Amino acid sequence: MCGVIGYVGDAEAAPIIVKALRNLEYRGYDSAGIATLAFGRVWAEKDIGKLDQVCQTHQLDSLPGSTGIGHVRWATHGEVTPVNAHPHFDCKREIAVAHNGIIENYQELRTRLEHNHLFVSQTDTEVIPHLLEEFVDAGASLEEAVLKTTKLLRGSYAIVAVSLKDPGKVVASRKDSPLVVGRNDGKNFVSSDVLAFLEQTNRVAYLEDGETVVLTKDIVFLDAEGRQLQKEFREVDWKCDEATRQGYEFFMMKEIMEEPHAIRCAAMQDKRLLLEMAIGILRSRQVVLTACGTSRYAALVGRYLFSRLGGKFCDVIMASEFQYFSDSIDRNTLVIAISQSGETADVIEGVKRARANGATIYSLVNTVGSTLARMSERVLYLNCGPEIGVAATKTFMSQLTLLYMLAFTMANQMDEGLAKILDICPKIEKCFSKNSKKIWGLAQRTKGSNDFYYIARGINFAIAAEGALKMKEISYVHAEGMPAGELKHGTLALIDKGTPVVVICPKDYTYEETIANAHETKARGAFLIGVSEAANPIFDDWIEVPSVEEIFQPLVTVVPLQLLAYYSAVARDRDPDKPRNLAKSVTVK
Ligand code: G6P
Repeated sequence: MCGVIGYVGDAEAAPIIVKALRNLEYRGYDSAGIATLAFGRVWAEKDIGKLDQVCQTHQLDSLPGSTGIGHVRWATHGEVTPVNAHPHFDCKREIAVAHNGIIENYQELRTRLEHNHLFVSQTDTEVIPHLLEEFVDAGASLEEAVLKTTKLLRGSYAIVAVSLKDPGKVVASRKDSPLVVGRNDGKNFVSSDVLAFLEQTNRVAYLEDGETVVLTKDIVFLDAEGRQLQKEFREVDWKCDEATRQGYEFFMMKEIMEEPHAIRCAAMQDKRLLLEMAIGILRSRQVVLTACGTSRYAALVGRYLFSRLGGKFCDVIMASEFQYFSDSIDRNTLVIAISQSGETADVIEGVKRARANGATIYSLVNTVGSTLARMSERVLYLNCGPEIGVAATKTFMSQLTLLYMLAFTMANQMDEGLAKILDICPKIEKCFSKNSKKIWGLAQRTKGSNDFYYIARGINFAIAAEGALKMKEISYVHAEGMPAGELKHGTLALIDKGTPVVVICPKDYTYEETIANAHETKARGAFLIGVSEAANPIFDDWIEVPSVEEIFQPLVTVVPLQLLAYYSAVARDRDPDKPRNLAKSVTVK
């Protein structure tokens, strides 16, 4: 999703901004651009396409000046065209603005401005530089203009702006879209993502909604009324080499390989915090887990664990639908929000409404200091380092680990639970070495298939759904995951000769019934891929997973499904790290 960067410092801005944009590329984007201030003018270049391409065509790195802004765009309003790329400008091209988010009242503002301002793009963003222009022309400083402009905007925004009349200054402001400020001797940054400038500094402060930051050689924080605020800078403990591929062809493979390590890191939680949260869950009248995408599938596994180990029923509501249940969310409700990024707009919106109704919020988050973390009474961090591949893999394992830890703590078995989880890690490592070659072969063999079905029962149902999601996301293949018993209620009509059906069927109390459902597909000609510790003659291909206690199966069954999606993407010449149309951090609703 869009990423913004602003920089003021001693060094030339353009190379630093381009590097920051490169670090933001993983979020998903379709165009890029930068603007700098030097020699009494705004220098700017922007275009559609990959950053390398835009850099090469427009020599982005060589724009002069030591103050500037940059943007990678993921189109929402207006097609993917050079003119719609950011930054956007005022009429005189003296002000440049990059923006993440959506300005909901842009039509209304544009109609008002159009009689004396020249609009060139179809974006919602372009109203911002023209509004700034009005205020700057009336004598306001850039920060005064930003404060006045943001009062007129409805919707979500993280804005970075520069103006010729305020050389050596970047002003940034946010509402419902993240911004983080970084400080290093002689170099100041603001960005939507700490990874943008992590090589330069790990000392950061976060902007809250309605706050503005003024970067010069100094950093000044302002509230919505322009009053100065004091903010503490703290260190993020992510290391920048965690955000490099370290010899792997793609981040996704590196991140899958890091899963055993991620589980170990996530399992090491503060025992007191775990206990407080487990008690909170047990005591709440109703518990709702909310999340999107892969995080929601982790929540579905969590629901099963809470019931199985903690004897507590809870519901899982997908975050984009959560607001429609606000009538039954009250002060007796505990909401557990799960989000890798901690910035997903749907999750934040749902949590905001639940908070307004008096609910208590716990969250499971990877990004320290993210919006969700700051909105929560209690937070468990995944502690697995940055995840760059758009398709979530290691963070899913870390989320599961936290849910196991909570469920075991609810059952008063925290230490036993911890020991058992740590025991699984070597088994996952074995699973990689044993299966990788075989799964690559399978991906080659199914290269011509454009429909995959994944079936399972019980705790593995969510894994079937997650396996299908991975396949869709990165291979662009239609895939559906469902409870095996549900197959005959419709989907069976789609099974044809050679249709791949992935059957996740560990040898437990679900085995016989799942195999029976697999037979139903085999009878229609399905190509059966068994994921189990036991072979079965009906499997056309068998991926062997280690034998583990029933409740831990998700930790071993999901691994081959991640690998199958990865190898299928590679076999079909798709970039698994940057799937088309998708973004890592979905900061719009
Ligand atoms: C996007 C990503 C998914 C992710 C989902 C939720 O759709 O592409 O991989 O599962 O967002 O993200 P979150 O950061 O809230 O876990």
